[in-house]
Amino acid sequence: ASPKILAFAGSTRQNSYNQQLLNVAVAGARAAGAEVTVVNLKHYPLPLFNEDLERTAGEPEAATKLKQLFFEHDGLLIASPEYNSSITPLLKNTIDWVSRKVGDETPLQAYRGKVAALVSASPGALGGLRGLVHVRSILGNIGVIMLPDQVAVPKAHEAFDDNGQLKDESQQKNVSGVGAKVAAAVQKLAE
Ligand code: FNR
Repeated sequence: ASPKILAFAGSTRQNSYNQQLLNVAVAGARAAGAEVTVVNLKHYPLPLFNEDLERTAGEPEAATKLKQLFFEHDGLLIASPEYNSSITPLLKNTIDWVSRKVGDETPLQAYRGKVAALVSASPGALGGLRGLVHVRSILGNIGVIMLPDQVAVPKAHEAFDDNGQLKDESQQKNVSGVGAKVAAAVQKLAE
């Protein structure tokens, strides 16, 4: 069976650089034989996590649906923007809702044993690299196998051509390579 990868960006901004970058990585994963589901988190609107809300209203439908998607995939591709040197509230809030156990689910079922790789894009000089350190730490601590491969694309406002490809050839190759690496790692783990 081909590796199944769930891909999303930590931004729902129109023309998000990270969504564009995600698409490059996704193409790489598909070229390597993976079946990739790309999700825009704007279709999974979640309230800011609060345990009282969780207790009284239960799990929001969007969280249940997202969790189901996580259960159905073996790999994760995440494009993570950097806000104030760290992860976006959208991405953290999503990770938190999806981490919650409901009913007879096993703890952290959405994350344990999954393989993930990260990319980031930012108009700044570091490309969001400092945020990736935090995403790596958070996901690693809840059971995700984090691949060392990652790419941070600086000057993102100048980096893409009209077709959404990276103008810099080696950058384009490296980002699609990250997608291919996730596909290969999931495949290997399944053997
Ligand atoms: C930013 N941005 C930013 N960029 C960066 O490289 N390092 C940073 O620490 C920050 N901090 C930051 C904080 C907040 C609150 C905002 C709104 C933005 C800029 C950020 O990289 C830029 O808005 C990107 O365009 C966001 O990614 P998307 O939405 O294009 O994917």
